[in-house]
Amino acid sequence: MCGLAITILGIAGSLRQGSFNKRALAAACELAPEGVSIRPFQRLGDIPLYDEDVKAKGFPPPVAEFRQAIAEADALLFVTPEYNYSVPGVLKNAIDWASRPPDMPFIGKPVAMMGAAPGLMGTVRAQLHLRQILSGLNMPVLSRPEVLIREAAAKFDADGRLTDENTRKHIRNLLEKLRDWTLLLKGAPG
Ligand SMILES: Cc1cc2nc3c(=O)[nH]c(=O)nc-3n(C[C@H](O)[C@H](O)[C@H](O)COP(=O)(O)O)c2cc1C
Repeated sequence: MCGLAITILGIAGSLRQGSFNKRALAAACELAPEGVSIRPFQRLGDIPLYDEDVKAKGFPPPVAEFRQAIAEADALLFVTPEYNYSVPGVLKNAIDWASRPPDMPFIGKPVAMMGAAPGLMGTVRAQLHLRQILSGLNMPVLSRPEVLIREAAAKFDADGRLTDENTRKHIRNLLEKLRDWTLLLKGAPG
């Protein structure tokens, strides 16, 4: 690594306190490999519904904070729930705000994703939609590994800690791949 380090902005697309996806992001913070620091974005619930008339008066403070956090990060990690076979509205809404000019902080930013659901599909359909959305924003989206945390209730303990060893291994692998790929795209020497 030659001392190079990257910062990843983590965005969990659920507002509820006991969220599996927030817990999965907390696990990612815990599992961050050498050279990676992960900063979870905490204000998703403060972002108002997108309104072009509001935008015309300037970005609301939580939106400005979100855009700034994206701009400052070397890479992004979305941790998405699946709502009706897609990404939750709160997440799409935040993406919509951050996608608008000027500056457009998403452009060219390396991004990876994962997601957790109590069912058997592990957010695969939401992640496919998220890939499409992020590709449309001209973001390089990491293809592999795919981290689909299915039957999530069995994978976290009563305190919300991710205890499933196989899932922890997949998350660490995802973070290592995102780190290496981000450095490659930055043109950093290996
Ligand atoms: C409006 C709504 C739609 C949902 N649709 C799906 C779905 O399409 N597929 C799925 O696996 N789970 C679905 N679920 C269940 C979520 O996966 C589950 O509530 C999950 O715990 C949400 O993520 P969180 O724990 O991070 O809040 C849905 C839940 C809600 C509230």
